[in-house]
Amino acid sequence: MGKKAREIVEINLKELIKDLDRAYCDEWLAFYSYWYMAQAVEGKGYEDMQEFLNKIAKDELEHATELAERIIELGGLPTNIPRDWEKNANGPYPGVMKKLTDYNEIIKIVTTAEAGAIEVYNKIAQKTFGKDHDTYQLAVHIMGEEITHEEMFENLKG
Ligand SMILES: [Fe+2]
Ligand SMILES: [Fe+2]
Repeated sequence: MGKKAREIVEINLKELIKDLDRAYCDEWLAFYSYWYMAQAVEGKGYEDMQEFLNKIAKDELEHATELAERIIELGGLPTNIPRDWEKNANGPYPGVMKKLTDYNEIIKIVTTAEAGAIEVYNKIAQKTFGKDHDTYQLAVHIMGEEITHEEMFENLKG
Protein backbone atom coordinates (compact mmCIF):
# COMPACT_ATOMS: atom_id res chain seq x y z
CA MET A 1 0.00 0.00 0.00
CA GLY A 2 1.41 3.38 -1.03
CA LYS A 3 1.58 6.68 0.82
CA LYS A 4 -1.62 8.17 -0.61
CA ALA A 5 -3.56 4.95 -0.15
CA ARG A 6 -2.57 4.90 3.52
CA GLU A 7 -3.41 8.59 3.92
CA ILE A 8 -7.03 8.11 2.83
CA VAL A 9 -7.63 5.48 5.51
CA GLU A 10 -9.30 7.71 8.09
CA ILE A 11 -8.90 5.41 11.00
CA ASN A 12 -6.26 4.51 13.56
CA LEU A 13 -4.17 2.06 11.55
CA LYS A 14 -2.59 0.37 14.54
CA GLU A 15 -5.96 -0.31 16.08
CA LEU A 16 -7.41 -1.53 12.78
CA ILE A 17 -4.49 -3.91 12.22
CA LYS A 18 -5.03 -5.28 15.74
CA ASP A 19 -8.75 -5.82 15.06
CA LEU A 20 -7.96 -7.62 11.82
CA ASP A 21 -5.31 -9.73 13.48
CA ARG A 22 -7.74 -10.81 16.19
CA ALA A 23 -10.16 -11.91 13.47
CA TYR A 24 -7.28 -13.64 11.67
CA CYS A 25 -6.56 -15.70 14.80
CA ASP A 26 -10.28 -16.55 15.17
CA GLU A 27 -10.23 -17.88 11.62
CA TRP A 28 -7.32 -20.23 12.22
CA LEU A 29 -8.94 -21.56 15.38
CA ALA A 30 -12.26 -22.10 13.57
CA PHE A 31 -10.51 -23.70 10.61
CA TYR A 32 -8.72 -26.18 12.84
CA SER A 33 -11.78 -27.01 14.90
CA TYR A 34 -13.95 -27.64 11.83
CA TRP A 35 -11.25 -29.47 9.90
CA TYR A 36 -10.58 -31.72 12.89
CA MET A 37 -14.25 -32.51 13.36
CA ALA A 38 -14.57 -33.29 9.64
CA GLN A 39 -11.83 -35.90 9.97
CA ALA A 40 -13.15 -37.37 13.22
CA VAL A 41 -16.94 -37.40 12.79
CA GLU A 42 -18.62 -40.80 12.80
CA GLY A 43 -22.11 -42.23 12.79
CA LYS A 44 -25.08 -42.58 10.51
CA GLY A 45 -24.87 -40.33 7.47
CA TYR A 46 -21.56 -38.92 8.68
CA GLU A 47 -20.52 -38.12 5.09
CA ASP A 48 -22.94 -35.20 4.92
CA MET A 49 -21.67 -33.73 8.17
CA GLN A 50 -18.11 -34.25 6.99
CA GLU A 51 -18.86 -32.44 3.74
CA PHE A 52 -20.45 -29.47 5.53
CA LEU A 53 -17.55 -29.19 7.98
CA ASN A 54 -14.97 -29.42 5.21
CA LYS A 55 -16.78 -26.75 3.24
CA ILE A 56 -16.83 -24.22 6.05
CA ALA A 57 -13.28 -25.10 7.13
CA LYS A 58 -12.16 -24.22 3.61
CA ASP A 59 -14.01 -20.90 3.83
CA GLU A 60 -12.35 -20.04 7.17
CA LEU A 61 -8.92 -20.71 5.72
CA GLU A 62 -9.79 -18.42 2.84
CA HIS A 63 -10.86 -15.73 5.33
CA ALA A 64 -7.51 -16.08 7.11
CA THR A 65 -5.79 -15.59 3.75
CA GLU A 66 -7.84 -12.50 2.90
CA LEU A 67 -7.23 -10.99 6.33
CA ALA A 68 -3.48 -11.66 6.14
CA GLU A 69 -3.37 -9.88 2.78
CA ARG A 70 -5.20 -6.86 4.16
CA ILE A 71 -3.10 -6.68 7.33
CA ILE A 72 0.07 -6.72 5.26
CA GLU A 73 -1.31 -4.11 2.86
CA LEU A 74 -1.95 -1.86 5.84
CA GLY A 75 1.65 -2.26 6.94
CA GLY A 76 1.16 -4.84 9.68
CA LEU A 77 2.02 -8.50 10.14
CA PRO A 78 -0.43 -11.20 11.20
CA THR A 79 0.29 -13.37 14.26
CA ASN A 80 2.96 -15.80 13.14
CA ILE A 81 3.18 -18.29 15.99
CA PRO A 82 0.31 -20.80 16.36
CA ARG A 83 0.52 -20.83 20.16
CA ASP A 84 -0.42 -17.13 20.09
CA TRP A 85 -3.63 -17.72 18.12
CA GLU A 86 -5.73 -18.30 21.24
CA LYS A 87 -4.10 -15.41 23.10
CA ASN A 88 -4.67 -12.93 20.26
CA ALA A 89 -8.13 -14.11 19.16
CA ASN A 90 -11.47 -12.49 19.99
CA GLY A 91 -13.07 -15.72 21.08
CA PRO A 92 -11.92 -18.99 22.64
CA TYR A 93 -10.98 -22.05 20.57
CA PRO A 94 -14.35 -23.45 19.41
CA GLY A 95 -13.23 -26.95 20.42
CA VAL A 96 -14.28 -30.33 19.07
CA MET A 97 -17.07 -32.76 19.92
CA LYS A 98 -16.43 -35.12 22.84
CA LYS A 99 -18.41 -37.96 21.30
CA LEU A 100 -17.65 -38.47 17.60
CA THR A 101 -21.28 -39.22 16.73
CA ASP A 102 -22.76 -36.28 18.64
CA TYR A 103 -24.08 -34.10 15.81
CA ASN A 104 -25.91 -31.81 18.20
CA GLU A 105 -22.68 -30.92 19.91
CA ILE A 106 -21.02 -30.26 16.55
CA ILE A 107 -23.90 -27.99 15.58
CA LYS A 108 -23.61 -26.15 18.88
CA ILE A 109 -19.86 -25.65 18.50
CA VAL A 110 -20.24 -24.31 14.97
CA THR A 111 -23.24 -22.05 15.56
CA THR A 112 -21.61 -20.52 18.65
CA ALA A 113 -18.39 -19.81 16.77
CA GLU A 114 -20.28 -18.40 13.78
CA ALA A 115 -22.39 -16.11 15.96
CA GLY A 116 -19.14 -14.75 17.41
CA ALA A 117 -17.67 -14.27 13.94
CA ILE A 118 -20.76 -12.40 12.71
CA GLU A 119 -20.42 -10.00 15.64
CA VAL A 120 -16.72 -9.47 14.98
CA TYR A 121 -17.18 -8.63 11.28
CA ASN A 122 -20.22 -6.49 11.96
CA LYS A 123 -18.08 -4.41 14.35
CA ILE A 124 -15.23 -4.13 11.84
CA ALA A 125 -17.70 -3.11 9.12
CA GLN A 126 -19.23 -0.43 11.35
CA LYS A 127 -15.82 0.87 12.34
CA THR A 128 -14.51 1.11 8.77
CA PHE A 129 -17.66 2.29 6.99
CA GLY A 130 -16.83 5.43 5.03
CA LYS A 131 -13.29 5.40 6.45
CA ASP A 132 -11.51 2.46 4.88
CA HIS A 133 -13.44 1.21 1.87
CA ASP A 134 -11.34 -1.89 1.17
CA THR A 135 -11.45 -3.21 4.72
CA TYR A 136 -15.16 -2.41 4.88
CA GLN A 137 -15.82 -4.45 1.74
CA LEU A 138 -13.74 -7.33 3.03
CA ALA A 139 -15.58 -7.34 6.38
CA VAL A 140 -18.98 -7.33 4.67
CA HIS A 141 -17.91 -10.10 2.29
CA ILE A 142 -16.63 -12.33 5.11
CA MET A 143 -19.65 -11.56 7.29
CA GLY A 144 -21.94 -12.72 4.46
CA GLU A 145 -20.20 -16.10 4.46
CA GLU A 146 -20.34 -16.40 8.25
CA ILE A 147 -24.08 -15.72 8.06
CA THR A 148 -24.40 -18.57 5.54
CA HIS A 149 -22.39 -20.88 7.84
CA GLU A 150 -24.60 -20.12 10.82
CA GLU A 151 -27.69 -20.77 8.75
CA MET A 152 -26.37 -24.04 7.28
CA PHE A 153 -25.78 -25.42 10.75
CA GLU A 154 -28.90 -23.99 12.33
CA ASN A 155 -30.88 -25.80 9.65
CA LEU A 156 -29.27 -29.09 10.72
CA LYS A 157 -30.74 -28.85 14.21
CA GLY A 158 -32.84 -31.93 14.91
FE1 LIG B 1 -14.48 -17.06 8.78
FE1 LIG C 1 -17.63 -19.29 9.41
